Amino acid sequence: MMRQMSRRGKFITFEGLDGTGKSTQMRRLAAALRKSGHEVVETREPGGTATGEKIRKVLLDSETSALAPLAEMALMFASRAQHIAEVIEPALAAGSIVLCDRFTDSTEAYQGGGRKLGSPPVRELHRVLCGDLQPDLTILLEANPHVSVSRARKRNRRASRAGARGHDESRFEQETRAFFMRVRESYMAIAKREPGRVVIVDARGTPGQTHERIVEVVRKKLRI
Ligand code: TYD
Repeated sequence: MMRQMSRRGKFITFEGLDGTGKSTQMRRLAAALRKSGHEVVETREPGGTATGEKIRKVLLDSETSALAPLAEMALMFASRAQHIAEVIEPALAAGSIVLCDRFTDSTEAYQGGGRKLGSPPVRELHRVLCGDLQPDLTILLEANPHVSVSRARKRNRRASRAGARGHDESRFEQETRAFFMRVRESYMAIAKREPGRVVIVDARGTPGQTHERIVEVVRKKLRI
């Protein structure tokens, strides 16, 4: 008997420094793709599953103190391995377009670059723990690093004032300028190494302009 095989979906990741507008752009792209009839799954890292969201709390809460860089990297990958098994692979197998706010490039940029663990362990762990799953396309949003990081800091201060029990997501935003410069440099190195997968998108204009650029990239690169 012939079985109907659905074609494998597409995996698109969004990357960039904190506060570059990744989440907004991902939502807008999802809406545009759905409008043209695609099945779209939106998700994020760290997180994306019940277990992953628990790990996210540990990773991002500023109350988490003295987390060793290697433990931080291991937790990022624990969240990711669960996310791939539970959400990303099944959705791709079912033919959906998966949009993910951050993926392994974030670990290479933040833990590899920011925390100075280097790229090789990140890439090796990605092979072992993530089956070397590669996005079909990565949108790297590029804005003024000082502006975007201070935007993210402000947003998190607002969120933690609003939060009842003092939980926040600002552990990374408290990092130094030098840390974010290393993150940015690592992102640039990844883009240079893998120009077929990673497209740098200028995010300094209005959200509408950035959205148009992203739609154009997706159309050209993935023919969708
Ligand atoms: P995110 O919620 O995307 O923050 P923002 O919206 O401010 O960009 O990500 C939370 C933080 O987690 C962000 O500061 C980057 C960090 N992070 C890593 O350090 N390594 C990783 O592998 C991932 C996925 C995120």
